[in-house]
Amino acid sequence: MSLPDESTVRAALAQFEADLAAAPSLRDAQSVRDKYLGRKNSVVAGWMQLIGSAPADQKKLIGRYANELKQHIEARWDTYQSAAEANLRPAGAVDVTLPGRQPRLGHPHPLTLVRTRMEAVFTRMGFSIVEGPEIEDEWHCFDALNMPAEHPARDMQDTLYLASPVCGESGRPDDRRTMLRTHTSSIQIRYMQTHQPPIRIVAPGRVYRRDDLDLTHTPMFTQMEGLVVGEGISLADLKGTLLAFARDMFSERARVRFRPSFFPYTEPSAEVDLSCWQCDGQGCAMCKQTGWIEIGGSGMVHPSVFEAVGYDPERYTGFAFGIGIERVAILRHQVQDIRLFFENDLRFLEQFPY
Ligand code: DAH
Repeated sequence: MSLPDESTVRAALAQFEADLAAAPSLRDAQSVRDKYLGRKNSVVAGWMQLIGSAPADQKKLIGRYANELKQHIEARWDTYQSAAEANLRPAGAVDVTLPGRQPRLGHPHPLTLVRTRMEAVFTRMGFSIVEGPEIEDEWHCFDALNMPAEHPARDMQDTLYLASPVCGESGRPDDRRTMLRTHTSSIQIRYMQTHQPPIRIVAPGRVYRRDDLDLTHTPMFTQMEGLVVGEGISLADLKGTLLAFARDMFSERARVRFRPSFFPYTEPSAEVDLSCWQCDGQGCAMCKQTGWIEIGGSGMVHPSVFEAVGYDPERYTGFAFGIGIERVAILRHQVQDIRLFFENDLRFLEQFPY
């Protein structure tokens, strides 16, 4: 046997690769490894034996080549073996010996938390929770709510009409235009059309308007509509209900203030302010030193609305309100920018643990 040199090392490694590639199973590959690395009769063992009879100046060199070959083959064997073992596992099998991965626990969105809390407060007062469609027609969103065709809210500037109009009875495309509802008040109409008084409902949901994004506006936001109808329902019931809501939701010391306002579907109408729960009505940055914070609109249901749904306005009275859920959430949690609720940045969302 001629003495090994650098080219013999390279040739031996190439041969090892070829033998390995030809091995039909892991067991055969193990024999290939032994053929090169085994204690007896292997390539490396043969080279070590040569050292005994080699000239003195060659002994060291042969030892080095034998070692080099051994190290290369061992390293190559390690990668070959782990790849082969991984392949032996059936596809998709779970390696139960791996340490478990810590699952990331989610929690409800802050708006969901606030909405659920509001729902709980109203359910305690005997309200039912109802829903309505986000795609509405003009009759439910406007006409039935005493907003005739020339009402400014129906303008294309404010309302997101849908591109493909649904044809109404006349077959004219504009007979019943569809749109994304601009307020949850349309749910009042749908509910009254299908139910008789007494009624006590809240209806949460998304609403849409043609607003540009800024600190306090998003084209989609959420409201909670309230409607109570019966015999002898009065403005005092409206105020008492909103006060009970404010006390349960915010603080025992909360107060409610009505500011005269106008909505076509209520008469009289009022803007609803709550005493600021940051400063308890003393005046602070959050309430702009006024001591009050606006949360929505309300009023006594307009007789025309009752007529639209076929109720007798002589017999029934009722009140309605619409509260901005983002408004409540912003004020409760002192959020500076309404857009944060919709950007899905986990750094923001994780600040509202369940
Ligand atoms: N629909 C109104 C809005 O979107 C809020 C509202 C005001 C709802 C008065 C009502 C109400 O039910 O009575 O701004």
